[in-house]
Amino acid sequence: MSDLVRIVYVSRSTFTPMPAERGIEPNVARILSQSRLNNARRGLVGALYFGDGCFFQCLEGRAQDVDRLYAALQRDPRHTDLKVLDRQPIDRTSFAAWSMKYVPLDAPMQALLQRQGLATFDPYRFDATTVATVLDMLRTGGDAAPEPAVASAPTQDAGTAARAFRLAAAALAVALAALAVAVLT
Ligand SMILES: Cc1cc2nc3c(=O)[nH]c(=O)nc-3n(C[C@H](O)[C@H](O)[C@H](O)COP(=O)(O)O)c2cc1C
Repeated sequence: MSDLVRIVYVSRSTFTPMPAERGIEPNVARILSQSRLNNARRGLVGALYFGDGCFFQCLEGRAQDVDRLYAALQRDPRHTDLKVLDRQPIDRTSFAAWSMKYVPLDAPMQALLQRQGLATFDPYRFDATTVATVLDMLRTGGDAAPEPAVASAPTQDAGTAARAFRLAAAALAVALAALAVAVLT
């Protein structure tokens, strides 16, 4: 029998989110980088949505790994009021290609909220059908942070490497010039 489970929970950010039109929220980007590194190591997959200061996250993997992560999530000061909306055994993961997919869902989420009569993204009020609908939207939606979140550190490293290369090239040029002077005099 499969030991895989899916858990869906919601929470409220403790940080004040940056306005959505300015792109991916920096705190969320950091959470994504950390999640992608850790989840890939632990064989966990899933998806994350963030709207109006609320997280909606789906985690899939071996029960003990998912439960261990959920215990860590409960201690994470970046969010509060965690509430599990769904937890069930699964035969296979549905986000297999994603250590943590990030989907903004702007238009489809607005349409869903309108149908639900909700003015803002308030996942605490979602019923089982709405949870399933949001999960489907996350499965089919495109990832909005394929690399920026994960690549922010490597980008800096690349800049540092380029500077180091230029310095080394300059040092070599000086050394060659000194050698030429020494040979010719
Ligand atoms: C909304 C939210 C979602 C998170 N999702 C994950 C996740 O999918 N995987 C993960 O390893 N950490 C996730 N974290 C971070 C964990 O709470 C915790 O800080 C992290 O697992 C500790 O990692 P470390 O062992 O590398 O210090 C999330 C945090 C928040 C606030």
